[in-house]
Amino acid sequence: MFGRRNAQSDTVSKAPPTPEPTPAPVAPSTPVSVAEPAPEAPPAPEPAPLPEIDEDAPQETAPDIDPDEQKRINERLNDAKVAVFSDLLEAVDLGELSKLLPDQIREEISDMVGEIIIMRNFVLGVDEQQQIINEICDDILGLGPLEPLLARDDIADIMVNGADTVYIETDGKIELTDVKFRDNAQLMNICQRIVTAVGRRVDEASPICDARLMDGSRVNVIAPPLAIDGAALTIRKFKKDKLRLRDLVAFKSISPEAATVLSIASQCRCNILISGGTGSGKTTLLNCMTEFIEPGERIITCEDAAELQLQQPHVVRLETRPPNLEGIGEITMRDLVKNCLRMRPERIIVGEVRGPEAFDLLQAMNTGHDGSMGTVHANNPREAISRVENMIAMGGFNLPAKAMREQIASAIHIIIQAQRLRDGSRRITHITEVVGMEGDVVILQDLFLYEFMGEDENNNILGEHRPTGMRPKFWDKARYYGLEGKLAEALQMPEN
Ligand SMILES: Nc1ncnc2c1ncn2[C@@H]1O[C@H](COP(=O)(O)OP(=O)(O)O)[C@@H](O)[C@H]1O
Ligand SMILES: [Mg+2]
Repeated sequence: MFGRRNAQSDTVSKAPPTPEPTPAPVAPSTPVSVAEPAPEAPPAPEPAPLPEIDEDAPQETAPDIDPDEQKRINERLNDAKVAVFSDLLEAVDLGELSKLLPDQIREEISDMVGEIIIMRNFVLGVDEQQQIINEICDDILGLGPLEPLLARDDIADIMVNGADTVYIETDGKIELTDVKFRDNAQLMNICQRIVTAVGRRVDEASPICDARLMDGSRVNVIAPPLAIDGAALTIRKFKKDKLRLRDLVAFKSISPEAATVLSIASQCRCNILISGGTGSGKTTLLNCMTEFIEPGERIITCEDAAELQLQQPHVVRLETRPPNLEGIGEITMRDLVKNCLRMRPERIIVGEVRGPEAFDLLQAMNTGHDGSMGTVHANNPREAISRVENMIAMGGFNLPAKAMREQIASAIHIIIQAQRLRDGSRRITHITEVVGMEGDVVILQDLFLYEFMGEDENNNILGEHRPTGMRPKFWDKARYYGLEGKLAEALQMPEN
């Protein structure tokens, strides 16, 4: 049987005496695929080994690359890249190279790659050569196959589940991409590079790690053996242009009237808790709420990874710190919030309240730092209250339940609920006020609710933000700030 070789028999059967009928000019028989060694040969004339894909060509004639051919081309390019890469590693000192600026490194690398390609006599088109240069630069400088995804502004999250599976989220919808890593080792390498940049390490001994990219994107890595199918890497991309409240109105995440109520609540220094699930838009909304803070106020923000972008001039930004490699030096959110109180803040903003810092934030809210804000992970306003209660209880504060609830009820004025709906859209579903206590129970009153009304032909959810007709408890505050008329109008209520 000396027909066409297939991949399986390749390793066991002897190589047939006849040369392979492969049309590609560079036969990738070994990882280092070199054409005939012809040191004296003049530079190859401009080859055209790749059929050009003319995007403007009519549909009937366009698909003249069959998938097998495309696969061979890709394999050939990949082999060439591997060969060039290993030559490059021998030729340059990466340590020295990394001292240059990224643009200089790119320039240096493309010069050297050009030389290597000539020396090795590879037959490559200009585009192919550029593609190899780009991929090698991405491997050396950045995050390899993730670079094209990181460069896109429309992606909210990148989720890597092992070397072969990369999902992205755009417009609230999750989709699989065709991005792949060479193997799990390359993926692990990239994870390692991300976390060492923030002075941490990820390996079998410490397989879970949070980090941040240079651009501020938040990263979580969980490595094997905990992640069974290869390292799982999750990136929440940092958006340079944060959404504003008016964008949320344009997206119909909130009605113009409800947005006005939120802006008034922020302006007249209500203490606000933003509640929602992961990726529901809590941090975005918190950022929106800070738009309405007066420029003169002293604001202190506490976050696990700085995401908020306040426009005001007088802001102190604080960030927690994980323990170092020896397991010491951790600074928790509670440490930060406690320290805030000694920094003469006017407003304290806590990115995410998830532990005993809840107690300190409530204390701050109750002791004259009105206008403080935070987010909490909960599915509705009532649950947000019990989450805060649980966080305090877990923190070991020996407070009777009733006293604890009284603290909460007097500290928090407004809870805003954010939700990511099943069609991928994000909506503000509740604007709810904490009105006080009745017996042992915290009393809430909704001011605005999002009412579901069905879905359209594209399965997009339809609904409306409706005022409930309740008169807000913060009416008097609004009056004090001269915003009573605006509030009445937004709530469609008579002004008195
Ligand atoms: N109302 C919205 N409409 C569209 N996209 C939104 C909206 N709110 C947030 N996003 C986007 O959703 C992603 C997650 O938002 P984020 O505020 O970080 O969520 P959370 O803090 O709840 O995890 C971000 O990319 C953000 O830009
Ligand atoms: Mg968040």
